[in-house]
Amino acid sequence: MKEKLSALKDEANLNIQKAATLQEIDEIRVKYLGKKGEFTEISKSMRNLSPEERPLFGQLVNETKTFITNLIDEKNLVLKNEAKKEQLMSEVLDISLPGRDVSTGGLHPITETMNFLKGIFTDMGFDIAEGPEVEFTSYNFDALNIPETHPSRDLQDTFYMSENVVLRTHTSPVQARYMEKNQPPFRMVCPGKVYRNDYDISHTPMFHQMEGLMVGPDVSFANLKAMLEQFVTKVFGETKVRFRPHFFPFTEPSAEMDVQCVICKGEGCRLCKHSGWLEIMGCGMVDPAVLEAGGLNSDEVSGFAFGMGIERITMLRYGIDDLRAFFENDVRFLKQFK
Ligand code: DAH
Repeated sequence: MKEKLSALKDEANLNIQKAATLQEIDEIRVKYLGKKGEFTEISKSMRNLSPEERPLFGQLVNETKTFITNLIDEKNLVLKNEAKKEQLMSEVLDISLPGRDVSTGGLHPITETMNFLKGIFTDMGFDIAEGPEVEFTSYNFDALNIPETHPSRDLQDTFYMSENVVLRTHTSPVQARYMEKNQPPFRMVCPGKVYRNDYDISHTPMFHQMEGLMVGPDVSFANLKAMLEQFVTKVFGETKVRFRPHFFPFTEPSAEMDVQCVICKGEGCRLCKHSGWLEIMGCGMVDPAVLEAGGLNSDEVSGFAFGMGIERITMLRYGIDDLRAFFENDVRFLKQFK
């Protein structure tokens, strides 16, 4: 039996040396070490040995088995490494080849301007608020001191969904909603879409506005001016502004703010109709009736408000002279803002 074991060892050794693939080495492992392999057979035949011979022979079997197992593991590792090397060689990457172009989109100039303006106001401590585009007439008009007889309620300007529901005609209703939910002092801006039944070179039925509101115990017109002047400098750089008296139902006193023309710097040109000034927003001190409608006590707090068109600011920032370009989705136009 000893001879048989020794012959088996030599045979296995030779087969392992000859094995050239991982599959062959696997087959060898099964042949010798598997459940029905040679070593199982030998172990079984140990039954025929005398009790004195058994331990010694058993030890010899184990040593041989370990020897063969080690040989198989070693060869297995060598073959695996070779296979890996071969794979790496066959899959060489040419890193000097040009990459595939990744095409990215860009933000719409209106969105970009909206983000830019929001950033300026949040830096100044303003909260960002939102309201629904489908709005009750009570918020869109009544709470803002706009009487039943006001021309802006006319069917020709306002899209009515029903008798008391409209597509909001401005972002001002968010003021009323915000006052109901928040206690002064507060300051907020609310950007969003607004709708009016209007369509020509300078009007589209949907456009964007940004509303601002600040309310507190001692908010003054001087605060409004200082804050807006700072805002305008951040948008257009160092420039002059002026305030012209105006009328809005929701503010008293009210004003319109102009900036010096961004094209001619006040000299007079086509854009500013030779006035040297560009109107950019409406503003004023919140009318006490509006504060009261929002649930605030107009004897204790005062506030200012302002509202601007985002399209207008975007046109001035980028020198765009046709409002319709924003809504035609011509990629040649949009790509310029990537
Ligand atoms: N809501 C006005 C509009 O749609 C804009 C406006 C003007 C808003 C003056 C205000 C304001 O808050 O104080 O034309």
